[in-house]
Amino acid sequence: MAGKNDLLQAAKEARARAYAPYSDFHVGAAVLGASGGVYSGCNVENASFGLTSCAERNAIFAMVAAGETEIREILVIGESEEFLPPCGACRQVIAEFAAVPTVVHMCNRRGECRDTTVGELVPFIFHLKK
Ligand code: THU
Repeated sequence: MAGKNDLLQAAKEARARAYAPYSDFHVGAAVLGASGGVYSGCNVENASFGLTSCAERNAIFAMVAAGETEIREILVIGESEEFLPPCGACRQVIAEFAAVPTVVHMCNRRGECRDTTVGELVPFIFHLKK
């Protein structure tokens, strides 16, 4: 089963393919699915800025397109000195496919990571239940 180092490698490779001509901030993400598959994504920006899509969401959508809907672990790496926390929109998308204790690795430009959980990132998760 793939582990954190595999996710880090996949996320770094994706980060190298980021399309970020406007922010010049390159982000990569990798998701481990319940089947053991690893899916990666990078941020893809647009001249109409609001259409930009984050690395985490692109990785998760690749996982779903491959037929998986359960995240076991997720890692995100940016270019900052600080560990990169997923944006609010990505947190909600992560929470759609990951249980509360799922580990989220937030990494800095050097690949050093701080670990947290989905529950810590989204303390009150919205799920559509009546
Ligand atoms: N970005 C991500 O890909 N993930 C995050 O969690 C934070 C922000 C991207 C979006 C945009 O292309 C660039 O980083 C600057 O905000």
